[in-house]
Amino acid sequence: MKVILAFLLIGFALANDTKCTYDGKELSNDEVITVQNAFQIKCLTEDNGSWKTEIVGCVTPGGEKVNVGEKSDDGQKVHECIKNENGQVVLKESRGTKADCQGGHKSGETWTEKSFKFTCAEGGVTKFTHCVTADGVEIESGKTGKVGAIEMKCEQHANGTVSMSAANEPSSYECEAKDGTKKKNGEEYKEGNFVRKCGDYGIAKIVGCSAEGVTETIPINQNVTVGDFVHSCVKDGDKYSFKTFGKQKKSNVVPLCGHEGKTYKHGETFIKQDAFRVKCVTYPNLTTEHQVLSCITPAGIEIPIGRSVEEGELIYECTNGDVSLKTTPGKTAKCRKIYNVGEIWIEGLFKVRCEPYGKSSLVSCLSKDGVEIPLGQQRRIAAGYVMECVIVGDNVIMRPAKEAKCQTSSGETKNINDTWNEGNFVRRCESYGIGNIIGCHIENVGPIGINTNYTRGDYVHMCLKQGDQFYFKTVPK
Ligand SMILES: *[C@@H]1O[C@H](CO)[C@@H](O)[C@H](O)[C@H]1NC(C)=O
Ligand SMILES: *[C@@H]1O[C@H](CO)[C@@H](O)[C@H](O)[C@H]1NC(C)=O
Ligand SMILES: *[C@@H]1O[C@H](CO)[C@@H](O)[C@H](O)[C@H]1NC(C)=O
Ligand SMILES: *[C@@H]1O[C@H](CO)[C@@H](O)[C@H](O)[C@H]1NC(C)=O
Ligand SMILES: *[C@@H]1O[C@H](CO)[C@@H](O)[C@H](O)[C@H]1NC(C)=O
Ligand SMILES: *[C@@H]1O[C@H](CO)[C@@H](O)[C@H](O)[C@H]1NC(C)=O
Ligand SMILES: *[C@@H]1O[C@H](CO)[C@@H](O)[C@H](O)[C@H]1NC(C)=O
Repeated sequence: MKVILAFLLIGFALANDTKCTYDGKELSNDEVITVQNAFQIKCLTEDNGSWKTEIVGCVTPGGEKVNVGEKSDDGQKVHECIKNENGQVVLKESRGTKADCQGGHKSGETWTEKSFKFTCAEGGVTKFTHCVTADGVEIESGKTGKVGAIEMKCEQHANGTVSMSAANEPSSYECEAKDGTKKKNGEEYKEGNFVRKCGDYGIAKIVGCSAEGVTETIPINQNVTVGDFVHSCVKDGDKYSFKTFGKQKKSNVVPLCGHEGKTYKHGETFIKQDAFRVKCVTYPNLTTEHQVLSCITPAGIEIPIGRSVEEGELIYECTNGDVSLKTTPGKTAKCRKIYNVGEIWIEGLFKVRCEPYGKSSLVSCLSKDGVEIPLGQQRRIAAGYVMECVIVGDNVIMRPAKEAKCQTSSGETKNINDTWNEGNFVRRCESYGIGNIIGCHIENVGPIGINTNYTRGDYVHMCLKQGDQFYFKTVPK
């Protein structure tokens, strides 16, 4: 930052008591004033009456006075008061040697941002010094360093950005086998009983196993049988293992299955628990197994696994998987163990019919006053409203039918909100099929509201509601 002031005033006065004039003000000899908050001007007079003003110093924004040709440094900022060859005086501002860096870091402070380390250098300059790896290893800017086996380069680019990246192509790294030999990327090599492949960054991975007398690599999690040996290459979690088993030698002992005191040879079948036909299966390791082939019903009918058969009132099924003989009611099975197919009985508020396979199905609902409402239908009960017998979710329920229509005394059907006349009353169809009285009807006149009178000739017609009762009365005036 620069502030410039460039003038030198010269004048002449007659009086012995010579004074300088500056900006309309009089100054005595040697008097110094500050102008523009930035410069110091001094008055110089001669005995012969001549005078001049001269810039003798600068004033910093902080109010410090600096003589021409000198500088001040408060750490953060340096202010220099310079007079150039044209006689101009300039206040030059620059960062102090101990100035803070951006972000408020103090001079000399070092800090790390992400993976990069900086220091606040002289003059408030932020200097990038190091890259820092995840393990805390520092690599100097412009240098390379090892992170494990990988060479990383730490650099600051011309555009100012800093980076830490692999110094070489991932595939350029060689792997080192246990015997010290170097292997190229992609190369496969044996190391004991394992086969490794050299991968990126010189990291070799196990890709299989190697066994004596086996030319090909044994893939992971596979067995290879050679002569009397089985070679097994296993990966279990992160662990690899290689094992060789001697194959089971033929034994003279013939394994037999035993059941209820009898023995059976491999392949023979027998009946178990009166319900299954099983086959004897034996293994070279002398273990035996009873393999279920089919199920047998109490009547002695054999059913293959996965099939079923009807026997009397029951259906027998030979289930898959963990084989079992399962029974379910047959077509002629009784319901509740007492009702025959087609029989109808009453259970609480419901009428139920026995269907084939022992299934009971609901026929209708029965209201308390004995009205039978077939499933899915509505009926008006004695209390005057309509009930419905419906399936809601898994249940059959009987409930007031909110959306039910009304029926007039003459048997007509009315929709909700319809009004009609019934004798001297006006009714409106409301929820649950109830026709409520909403007024009275006078012949040749029309409707009148509840609790209103209508006078015609010598008579007064009254439409009244008392308690729950409605009345229509005609009385002489
Ligand atoms: C001018 O001032 C000087 C010193 O103040 C004094 O000695 C001198 O006599 C004065 N001259 C006149 C003409 O007043
Ligand atoms: C007055 O005196 C000064 C210094 O002695 C001289 O430089 C200047 O020319 C003189 N001025 C006049 C008007 O005599
Ligand atoms: C800065 O330069 C480096 C190296 O040339 C480049 O990878 C990076 O993208 C540049 N960054 C910006 C913001 O231009
Ligand atoms: C390999 O053989 C071993 C030993 O007989 C056995 O436990 C394993 O299940 C076999 N593995 C495969 C993949 O067949
Ligand atoms: C014997 O061999 C059978 C079939 O290979 C196997 O399922 C069983 O687990 C083995 N039993 C023993 C005790 O090794
Ligand atoms: C019956 O009338 C009421 C009030 O005017 C109205 O809110 C309702 O929607 C009507 N119902 C039908 C089924 O029209
Ligand atoms: C209707 O008339 C009767 C008998 O005159 C009277 O008692 C009653 O107050 C009247 N009601 C209205 C609402 O005017």
